[in-house]
Amino acid sequence: MARTLITSAIPYINGIKHLGNLVGSQLPADLYARYCRGRGHEVMFLCATDEHGTPAELAATKAGKPVAEFCAEMHGIQAEIARGFRLSFDHFGRSSSPQNHALTQHFAGRLAEAGMIGEVSEKQVYSITDGRYLPDRYIEGTCPNCGYDSARGDQCENCTKQLDPTDLLNPRSAISGSTDLEVRETKHLYLRQSQMRDRLNGWIDEKSDWPVLTTSIAKKWLNDGDGLQDRGITRDLDWGVPVKNGTQDWPGMEGKVFYVWFDAPIEYIACAGEWAEANGKTDADWQRWWRTDMGAEDVNYVQFMGKDNVPFHTLSFPATIMGANFDGKEPWKLVDYIKSFNYLNYDGGQFSTSKGRGVFMDQALSILPSDYWRWWLLSHVPESSDSEFTWENFQVSVNKDLADVLGNFVSRITKFCRSKFGEEVPAGGSYGEREQKLIADLTTRVRAYEGHMDAIDIGKAARELRAIWVLGNEYLQSAAPWVTFKTDPEAAAASVRLSLNLIRLYAVLSAPFIPDATDSLLAAVQSDDRSWPTDIAEALAALPAGHAFTTPEVLFSKITDEQREDWQQRFSGVRD
Ligand code: 2FM
Ligand code: ZN
Repeated sequence: MARTLITSAIPYINGIKHLGNLVGSQLPADLYARYCRGRGHEVMFLCATDEHGTPAELAATKAGKPVAEFCAEMHGIQAEIARGFRLSFDHFGRSSSPQNHALTQHFAGRLAEAGMIGEVSEKQVYSITDGRYLPDRYIEGTCPNCGYDSARGDQCENCTKQLDPTDLLNPRSAISGSTDLEVRETKHLYLRQSQMRDRLNGWIDEKSDWPVLTTSIAKKWLNDGDGLQDRGITRDLDWGVPVKNGTQDWPGMEGKVFYVWFDAPIEYIACAGEWAEANGKTDADWQRWWRTDMGAEDVNYVQFMGKDNVPFHTLSFPATIMGANFDGKEPWKLVDYIKSFNYLNYDGGQFSTSKGRGVFMDQALSILPSDYWRWWLLSHVPESSDSEFTWENFQVSVNKDLADVLGNFVSRITKFCRSKFGEEVPAGGSYGEREQKLIADLTTRVRAYEGHMDAIDIGKAARELRAIWVLGNEYLQSAAPWVTFKTDPEAAAASVRLSLNLIRLYAVLSAPFIPDATDSLLAAVQSDDRSWPTDIAEALAALPAGHAFTTPEVLFSKITDEQREDWQQRFSGVRD
């Protein structure tokens, strides 16, 4: 059995995520996890909240809560919303877990043993007004690379360049806005990732099948001179993983914590440990996913993330994994495929958490069920370039694809059958040329759909799935059982039988995109047969004559112009 390990970039704890965040990692990861499960793989799908660093501290301060309390609450909220979107994580962990503390300290110890950690006396920005150091997001200013005026101390979200707080032009405190800043010397640990340049280059060169977006960003930062600079992996913060060398104290590092980008990807691994604990499993049970000496050599590991996360996943995290195995004793699993995404924009601008611009996940679910959003987002996923959410486009896609194409097919055939043959699959008649052609066309398209899903080519897969739905409508239109019923009821019965079976086939094929609709369709045709259709003719014989069904309620309601205008208006402003 194929074994697939899937991780989604772990969302910051600082607030409820917007639809741009969702489509950039968690949702496509879920699509792929559901598809792999459908194809019979053994899947481990992990995600977590990213709870350390300045985003967490700043958000907790804003909410007026102790940071630990804020994180626990927000984790619960994010987990609930993830369930609302049907994100099928095997475990939704927390980077603040004891497992991640221990593993992060362990990796630091291994890297120190490997000679990959240096102690560096560095310049840190200190705010006189705030009476503290301002690492990472505690400082904002103008990006020296692209001129963006709201770049943060750790990274410019406009051009993705990784920054140090002292790089920013016109810096100001993100806490108080104060510009009364000075630079002070303090000692920090640095990851000597530049030592790994050749190995990382060689490793990326082997990945000729990776999306160009991933490899181009990786190569740019690898060979750009400053992209693979040694980087500080400790911070002067209270909240985080305390700096230790394995289980030992690290002299000189008292009161410091690891940098959030050091411990966050390690949480991918620790999360499997959390999964084991939550499910009464052993260490060996999670290590068989993560250690190639413990059974993970046949695991295919796929990561999903937005483009701004690519440098960390192609450089620093692999350098950590490779470095920790310096003596061949700890072969942790390296990623096999990185699927990265461009940005989704919102109605003529950017989605923005800090500015409260766009539609946030809880708001989306408050106006429509998750399948509507899943379909639109996945069929417009920003793969080859940035894409844009507009309410007009959302209305058109939902009404056409979901209501007119899929919903209408299901409704027409079940209602027609109920009125002429009753609520059971009719007997009689046989399949002729038209039916053979449909089976042949479906076979071609389903194989193409599988090919796109295997390649994680999501936009193409969505178009293929829609085309598969269209085939049903075209078939029904040309077989016209409502006409043949009068002259050749046997032929009408055969068409209806095939069409009712198509509903089950559609339910199974559509599950990765619209899992709730799948459940409704299978409930309607009273089947729990979710087996993937290897042979289409066989799959279309699953419901035999006499098999009972119920006519489903409206599968997808159309979005009216009034609703669209109302939502457009409601979500045009800024969330508090
Ligand atoms: O960009 C983000 O939302 C980060 N919290 C992603 C971290 S992914 C990983 F490294 F864990
Ligand atoms: Zn920039």
